Formats: sequence, structure tokens, C-alpha cells
Amino acid sequence: MSAPVALVTGASRGIGALIADKLAAAGWDLTVSARSEGPLQERAGLLSAHGHAVRAVPADMGVEEDVVRLADVHVEAYGRLDALVLNAGMGSIGPFADFPARRFDKLYAINVRSGYVLTQRLLPVLRKTAAGERGTAKVIAVSSLTGVAAEPLNSAYGASKAALTSLCETLNTEESEAGVTATAVCPGYVATDMTAPLADQVDPGAMIDPADVAELVVALTRLGRSVVVPSIPMTRPGPHLWRA
Ligand SMILES: NC(=O)c1ccc[n+]([C@@H]2O[C@H](COP(=O)([O-])OP(=O)(O)OC[C@H]3O[C@@H](n4cnc5c(N)ncnc54)[C@H](OP(=O)(O)O)[C@@H]3O)[C@@H](O)[C@H]2O)c1
Repeated sequence: MSAPVALVTGASRGIGALIADKLAAAGWDLTVSARSEGPLQERAGLLSAHGHAVRAVPADMGVEEDVVRLADVHVEAYGRLDALVLNAGMGSIGPFADFPARRFDKLYAINVRSGYVLTQRLLPVLRKTAAGERGTAKVIAVSSLTGVAAEPLNSAYGASKAALTSLCETLNTEESEAGVTATAVCPGYVATDMTAPLADQVDPGAMIDPADVAELVVALTRLGRSVVVPSIPMTRPGPHLWRA
């Protein structure tokens, strides 16, 4: 069998970097993406040390031309896609009463619309890969527990992640019989740069380890075509099962 291939967005740091690293260590070829070229190239260099192909494509998931270009560069380079990991995302909190609608639009563009456009554009190659020797191709979205159970100050972020989870569910209803299946992984607080500003409210040591999120994503890539896992909530230990 030829090496499996993944495209991971938001792969320069945090959860995405760990997903890319675990996939590279398991023998996958990769396209990795993020906005800032320097940190992305640095990450790509580290990933290359595993001995497999790594292509770094700087792209802003808030800009549709970048999203389309990312998909096209991937297809041109590899011609197959075993796992599309929709991980790039933006966090922003504020009271429902005065959260700016413009900021809502930006969250929605980055957290939902980019995943929609990227999946649409890559669906032909996902289908083609699923019809090949492995028999399946995965779309895995890093969504959020706040899209499953509401949290104060998370109206826009939670709504964007609920929409992302819904996209995975609908994709399964249309494509899973052809072997393309989707899962929304929905973690509570994960100890990354994104949650660093919350460190005075929640001890980062009590948050989910980003390596555990990455481990779950990689485990999903190992499943065959006989099962659909629409979504998986992940919470930190404690009495509040559905609280981020
Ligand atoms: N941390 C949490 O508590 C938590 C919980 C649940 C879900 N999540 C989700 O997990 C995903 C990863 O978050 P993280 O905690 O690992 O965040 P992070 O450490 O801040 O990393 C975010 C990654 O995404 C890239 N990125 C950000 N905005 C982008 C954009 N507009 N276009 C392209 N790439 C972009 C960043 O690189 P550049 O800045 O260079 O673009 C970076 O590589 C996000 O979707 C987030 O919503 C996080």
C-alpha cells in the first residue's frame, strides 16, 4: 500500500501541530497549513525529520481564495487524501448582549465556512481515495464542547462549532456509503495558546492535554469504512461533564 496522505489546517502549533506530528511518525505524508509562514516552515522542518513528505502551504482560512488554493496545491502534489483534518480555528468570547456581529462573521468564516469550502473542493479526491485500496477517507473536524452544550460568553464561538459539527453529520448522511466519513471531535478546554488568556480562571494543568486530542484524531484515521462516528465529546476530569 502507498503511504496515506493527510491535510492538516492550523498545523503550526497547538493541537494541529501534535496531530501532524503523530501522523508523520505513523508514516503519513502531509500537507500542513497555517497563516504565518515562518512558524509553519519551522514546523514542517520538524515533521520532515520523520522521513516522509511534508508540504507547507501558508493560507488564511478566512480568505476563500486561500482555502481553494490550499485544496488545489494538495491535490496537485499528492493526488490522494486519506484524512482531511479541519483544525484551524479562531476563539473569541463576549456577552451575547454586545458581541459585535462583524466578529461573529469572522468566526463563522474561519471556523465553519472554510471547512465547508475545503471539504467541497476536496470531495472528488476524498471519494477517489475511498474507492482505492484503503476503502475509506476521513474528514475530522476539531470542533468544541461549547458547540454541544452552551457556555456563557460563547454565543458566536459555540454557534460556529455547532455548525461545524452539523456539517460532519450531514456529510456522513450523503457520503459515508461511498467510504467518506466525518467526525467532529468536541473538546472542552485544551491547554494551548488559545486558552492561555484563561489561565487565571482555569489551571492549564487541569485542562485537556492537546496530545490526547491528537491521539484521538489519529485513532479515528485508523478506523475502516464499516463505522461512522459522527461526533465525540471530550471533557476534563471533574463533576461537570458538559462544561468546557
Ligand atoms: N484550546 C482549546 O481549549 C480548544 C477547545 C476546543 C476546540 N478547540 C479548537 O481546536 C482548534 C485548534 O486550536 P488550538 O487550541 O490548537 O489553537 P492554537 O494553539 O492557537 O493554534 C491555532 C492554529 O491555527 C492556525 N490558525 C489560526 N487562525 C487561522 C486562520 N485564520 N487561518 C489559518 N490558520 C489559522 C494557527 O496558526 P497562525 O496563527 O499562523 O494562522 C495555529 O497553527 C481550533 O479550531 C479551536 O477552536 C480548541
